[in-house]
Amino acid sequence: MTEARDVCLRVENVGMRFGGLRALDDVSFEVERGTILGLIGPNGSGKTTMMNVVSGVYKPTSGRAVFEGKRIADFPTHEVCHLGIARTFQVVKPFASLTVRENVAVGAMYGRFGAKRSGKDAFARTDELLESVGLARVAGRPASDLTIPDRKRLEVAKALALDPELLLLDEVMAGLNHTEVDEALHLLRAVNERGVTLIVVEHLMKAIMSISKRVVVLAEGKKIADGLPLEVTSSPAVIEAYLGSRFAKRQQQERERQT
Ligand SMILES: Nc1ncnc2c1ncn2[C@@H]1O[C@H](COP(=O)(O)OP(=O)(O)O)[C@@H](O)[C@H]1O
Ligand SMILES: [Mg+2]
Repeated sequence: MTEARDVCLRVENVGMRFGGLRALDDVSFEVERGTILGLIGPNGSGKTTMMNVVSGVYKPTSGRAVFEGKRIADFPTHEVCHLGIARTFQVVKPFASLTVRENVAVGAMYGRFGAKRSGKDAFARTDELLESVGLARVAGRPASDLTIPDRKRLEVAKALALDPELLLLDEVMAGLNHTEVDEALHLLRAVNERGVTLIVVEHLMKAIMSISKRVVVLAEGKKIADGLPLEVTSSPAVIEAYLGSRFAKRQQQERERQT
């Protein structure tokens, strides 16, 4: 007997065209509740477009994304966060004139549990989040003053302030140094352990492989692999499309060492 999987998000035959370009072509996958799914692929393979479909920013031109039984495209973008989905933006756009603390407080006030929170509670939640992402030290500064790594941290804090069930992270580790990447992985695991399902788009293969329970691979808008991290990275189609010979060689050496 097979155990029933507890799926929170179904992406069903999603296609997204921009004029003549098929940014996504008949892509289907499922996301289990409580998991961490890595979404990878070369530049321009459709990862950000998929994040935009799942967060309701784009209505797909074919197929559907269904979250907890609800078709995401049926909701206006600003209501998708009330369904329990939040995302970060690859190109970060904080409210530049607001302070870091105010930027996060906006989410804590208007997100899924915002209506149930007093202003005081929203700021308490904000301060807790700023502490956990490492931004407490710049809480009073205007968001426009932040360095790139701190802007990425702010994106994560803003998204978490919406109290999502499903959090979409689009290259939040880009531009971070080695220690900062480790801190980010630690933070994302802690977020996941508190029950938030994650979809992580990241270029850094080591980070994706260490954090993901499953990995979906896109190439030119199509899904070319879907499985456990090690299964996916040993798939010839993936190696060909994405990983390149250097990574393939390293994987091979790794396997040889283990046998
Ligand atoms: N709003 C848009 N209008 C036209 N083309 C777009 C738009 N968004 C993305 N694209 C194109 O769709 C393809 C996939 O882009 P994207 O999803 O950003 O890729 P990735 O995030 O994997 O690098 C690219 O060819 C890109 O130029
Ligand atoms: Mg992208």
